[in-house]
Amino acid sequence: MTSGKQPELVDVAIIGAGAAGLMCAAEAAKKGLTVVLLDHAKQAGKKILISGGGRCNFTNYYVEPNAYLSANPHFCKSALSRYTQWDFIALVDKHQIPYHEKTLGQLFCDDSAKDIVNMLLSECQQAGAEIRLRTAIEQVDFANERYQLTTSTGVLSASKLVIATGGLSMPKLGATSFGFDIARQFGLQVLPTRAGLVPFTLQPADKACFESISGVSAPTVIESLAGVSFKENLLFTHRGLSGPAVLQISSYWQEGEAILINLLPDHNDEQWLLNERHKNGERTIKTVLSEVLAKRVAEQWLGHQQVDNKPLKQFDDKQLLALAQRLARWPIKPSGTEGYRTAEVTLGGVDTNELSSKTMESKKQPGLYFIGEVVDVTGWLGGYNFQWAWSSGWACAQAL
Ligand code: FDA
Repeated sequence: MTSGKQPELVDVAIIGAGAAGLMCAAEAAKKGLTVVLLDHAKQAGKKILISGGGRCNFTNYYVEPNAYLSANPHFCKSALSRYTQWDFIALVDKHQIPYHEKTLGQLFCDDSAKDIVNMLLSECQQAGAEIRLRTAIEQVDFANERYQLTTSTGVLSASKLVIATGGLSMPKLGATSFGFDIARQFGLQVLPTRAGLVPFTLQPADKACFESISGVSAPTVIESLAGVSFKENLLFTHRGLSGPAVLQISSYWQEGEAILINLLPDHNDEQWLLNERHKNGERTIKTVLSEVLAKRVAEQWLGHQQVDNKPLKQFDDKQLLALAQRLARWPIKPSGTEGYRTAEVTLGGVDTNELSSKTMESKKQPGLYFIGEVVDVTGWLGGYNFQWAWSSGWACAQAL
């Protein structure tokens, strides 16, 4: 390390030793560049370590651009097509990491997310990328076509600067607005950010009704007002609604909107309650719903809808049709989300109009790059966000 006033000269400084930064550092160092990867945390890849319940859902067999939200849906295409899920799977295979498909193409480590972090650390080490942890970045200046970084461990001068500091979700894991602040410092637009892949909180009356069934999950199709839908499980929680279907739709939800829940995704026939009445009208509505829904869900839902538990024969056609329709399109208005505290991702971020989709370099500030979650590209739940981190990190490294 350089002491005194003389800065240490490197080709590339990367800030953020998360998924994107580690991939980019290893690939850039493989090209023979001197690479220093800086992070204020005491451990690299902290989010990787806790991801996927400790098993890291590191990619998805079915990665495609329409699984990503961005003001410019085309932006992610180039990087995703040049470094694909198959490339990352090949890397995982090279390191002999055992993995499996859990559901919907989602690939998880058999053993531990540590396998993925160790793989990336070993790629960095073999290529000669240096990782400096516990390093706070105090100031970034640009002069004479170089980036000067004043840090808590010394002053660095780099010809290229890559920002890989992620989004705002999970501040307790070290998330900061650093990347957005640097973007603004250099005159780049940052689109408004909000929490994504996040549980919903419910209005007090709805919460009071459903908190007694917290921990119960149900297969659903959940639809946003804009018509985007996901067929996955919903989980009732103490605070509101969670589970994969809810996390997915939360990224498409706008404050104040309702979501539509189909509690019976496999009952397409609107007449089904009429048919049930025809079969045996003595059975109560609760008994019939309990055959197709978890009993406690049926009970709470009927209470919520203020439907009396009476025999089917006491309902007329119109009432049964309306109930069936309500079960298939139950509108509920969340009061909000649990926010960045529990969100898996941050929507919005550095405007893709400011960046080259091939290299991730700023169009107005030469030598400055943004990769991973700090960019306005957000994937669905299911390994899509890590794939964006790998692909954008790799694409950037090729251009350094
Ligand atoms: P990432 O957040 O990984 O890394 C940013 C790095 O920058 C961190 O090391 C941080 O310490 C550092 N940093 C931040 N500010 C700094 C500063 N001011 N100075 C220095 N360093 C700074 N995705 C997926 O595909 N599959 C999954 O299974 C999961 N699971 C999951 C679980 C949970 C609980 C969360 C919160 C998130 C997920 N995700 C996920 C999302 C995934 O973790 C996320 O999209 C990627 O980690 C983003 O990678 P980045 O490298 O962009 O940021």
